[in-house]
Amino acid sequence: QTVEWTLEMAEKGGFPHFMLKEIFEQPRVLRDAIHGNAEIIRDVAREIANYDKIFIVAMGTSYHAGLVGKYLLQRLAKKVPFVEDASEFRYEFEDLVDEDSLVIAITQSGETADTLAAMKLAKKKGAKVLAIVNVVGSMATRIADLTLYTHAGPEIGVAATKTYTTQLAVLTMLAIELARVLGTADEEYLKGLEESLREVPDLVEGSILNLSEPLRELAESLKDREDFFYIGRGIGLPTALEGALKLKEISYIHAEGLSAGELKHGPLALIEDGVPVVAIAPNGKTFDKMVSNIEEAKARGAYVISIGSSEKLREVSDTFIKMPNVDEVLSPIPYVVPLQLLAYHLAVLRGNDPDKPRNLAKSVTVE
Ligand code: G6P
Repeated sequence: QTVEWTLEMAEKGGFPHFMLKEIFEQPRVLRDAIHGNAEIIRDVAREIANYDKIFIVAMGTSYHAGLVGKYLLQRLAKKVPFVEDASEFRYEFEDLVDEDSLVIAITQSGETADTLAAMKLAKKKGAKVLAIVNVVGSMATRIADLTLYTHAGPEIGVAATKTYTTQLAVLTMLAIELARVLGTADEEYLKGLEESLREVPDLVEGSILNLSEPLRELAESLKDREDFFYIGRGIGLPTALEGALKLKEISYIHAEGLSAGELKHGPLALIEDGVPVVAIAPNGKTFDKMVSNIEEAKARGAYVISIGSSEKLREVSDTFIKMPNVDEVLSPIPYVVPLQLLAYHLAVLRGNDPDKPRNLAKSVTVE
């Protein structure tokens, strides 16, 4: 028996789409990102440790990585960065960025016009610029004073997947190292976190990617819905935003990501029978609050899909996506993977090409 392979099939490694291939590459590239930065992260952390005025600038999915970075820096290094959409930063922060500022630019391509413009502005004002980039030798790396690479390899799908989780890995390592340099967290705790981070790729490989088929079945039952809500709290909030973005980008379903606390301040009015609410609920500070928000949404008829590791979620949700138990600060990496898969399957079931969503480009090089 012979199997006919087209060049395109070979490039996709047997997967029907690049996006799915790239989702499945995450265990490997996460290992590369972690090993590839183990040494350099120390030097970078030392160079930036004394900055207190920190801006994180990025667009799209990279912006969501920036939001996770903010929570990581707050929790571990006790720094409070401003996270700004690069297109806003350029105009709003022109007079505020100075030589005492550190600007962390996050960009997969290293070519996004707004992010590059923000970096150039920062340089002109004398700020220190650190870039977290995937594409080696891209423009961002030439503007930056310091560069950390995500080592994710080429990403063909327009919707960012593996480049996002590797950005998170780099940011986690940076926050841990900063906490160490600054003495803002227990060394034992930091060591444990590093060890757990190194295990995250195995968790994604062993207990999350195999959710693809159940998630496809779930997508089958949800494919005609027109509105989705993604809710989270604290470090889970950026995951909610990113889950909603993935859905919009490739399935063309309207989706909103918001802090669970905001639900009562408006969006709850939109919840009626069967509206999907995806709840990001890792164990941690705000778990009980998330459970209350889930109950609130359920009482209005929402179809609740919860993502977490506590069995309590099984009782209060319509669908429970069980995650391995990790420290809350590491949860953004594994927790986004089922959301990538859900968006992917919904896109395919609705007849869209997830690799080439309408109206969108992989890299936005015009303002
Ligand atoms: C485009 C892409 C997104 C990406 C964003 C920022 O909108 O479609 O996937 O997140 O640009 O790109 P960057 O290369 O700067 O991370």
